[in-house]
Amino acid sequence: MRQMARVGGARRGAPDDGFVSPVTGRVVLVVEESPEILYRLSRAVPAPAEAYSYSSLDELDPARLTPGGRVVVVLGPSQAAEDVLDRVGALTRSGPGLGAILVVGQMTPQLLRHALRAGIDDAIELAHAETQLTPAVVELLYRLENELSTAGARDASARQAEGSWVTSVFSPKGGVGKSVVAVNLAAALARRSATSVVVLDLDLQFGDIGVMLRLQPVHTVSDAVSAGPLLDESLFRSFLACHERSGVHVLAAPTSPSEGDQVSADSMLHVLGLLREMFGHVVIDTPPHLSEVVLQALAVSDTVAFMVAMDVPSVKNARLGLQAFELLQLPDERLLLVLNRADSHVHLAVRDVERALERKVDLTLPSEALVPQSVNQGVPAVLEYPRSRFAGQVNQLADLVLARCRNGARVEGGIR
Ligand SMILES: Nc1ncnc2c1ncn2[C@@H]1O[C@H](COP(=O)(O)OP(=O)(O)O)[C@@H](O)[C@H]1O
Ligand SMILES: [Mg+2]
Repeated sequence: MRQMARVGGARRGAPDDGFVSPVTGRVVLVVEESPEILYRLSRAVPAPAEAYSYSSLDELDPARLTPGGRVVVVLGPSQAAEDVLDRVGALTRSGPGLGAILVVGQMTPQLLRHALRAGIDDAIELAHAETQLTPAVVELLYRLENELSTAGARDASARQAEGSWVTSVFSPKGGVGKSVVAVNLAAALARRSATSVVVLDLDLQFGDIGVMLRLQPVHTVSDAVSAGPLLDESLFRSFLACHERSGVHVLAAPTSPSEGDQVSADSMLHVLGLLREMFGHVVIDTPPHLSEVVLQALAVSDTVAFMVAMDVPSVKNARLGLQAFELLQLPDERLLLVLNRADSHVHLAVRDVERALERKVDLTLPSEALVPQSVNQGVPAVLEYPRSRFAGQVNQLADLVLARCRNGARVEGGIR
């Protein structure tokens, strides 16, 4: 077997340079006959992964292909034969954590179709290898990571034992109180449960959780995403801001909308997976639209607090939003319908909203002047005005979430 680890010279995390990588078990196996192309492809392997090079598939060390190991096989142009693709495709389908990328001299529709059908995850042309291979490997490593954590997370009882619970606050409309509820729910959960709480601000364009808690975060979701596979718990902790009075941690939204555009759904899922390991409760604030990032976040949320305000446009949008949930096939028991400013003097009653949405409201929140006041003070209303009706209802919301967390999302009925 010809094995040339660390083709690219000083490579962090390589097995024989004495450097112990904080992320272990990410392996990239490059297979190509031409030594010159093999060298080019191996140089594109991102730093924290261990790179191994082989001149043919038969030389691959089967011990490096254990499912669960986060292994990417990069096939060079000499490996573009159908039988090779079929063999590698069968390998990647044999378990979570294995993936493959094909690099070809010239892409043809037939080759692309065969590669994808065989189970190859991605294909790029050799001419673009220097610019496209590194991001393709990073993206695939993310996906494998997510595949593995999803496989691990399928056992709901195991997750319950860990005590980690993700609650998203969502509405298809802006200004209905999502961010206010996200910070207040987080503060209430921190008070009422024995575990740590983090707020993930996924309003990637115009997130305001930092402002609402008067924090000046130095780092944001963008930093966490850019750290890629290097992101481990200690680095991640340095990216979080802490609201001292509530003890709630915050991963703030990017500082500019263009940075927010760079966050992919896969990278967000990776970040969320780590937060899940580090905190007992993750509360996600969302923007008022269903981007791919938001859809994926909702799909993995244990509870979605769906916010509706007391006005006709909000109720109309909520109807459409709930239909989208049905299309996503999110189980109904994950949803909590929250009606904000339910006592507003408009010509709508709670039962009108329920009739229009064809479902019961789980919780109502009153409209109170202390809510915008507390936002201006940078302290959640549940802490600043604990005796207010608003605080009382947010505490009820936290209790509903905690009950679902304890019972594995099988709580019947709601509190009004
Ligand atoms: N129950 C409430 N009573 C009074 N004002 C509220 C209430 N809920 C939200 N608000 C105010 O409405 C505005 C929008 O809330 P926000 O949480 O930013 O909405 P979103 O995140 O959905 O865009 C804020 O100024 C907030 O203080
Ligand atoms: Mg908001």
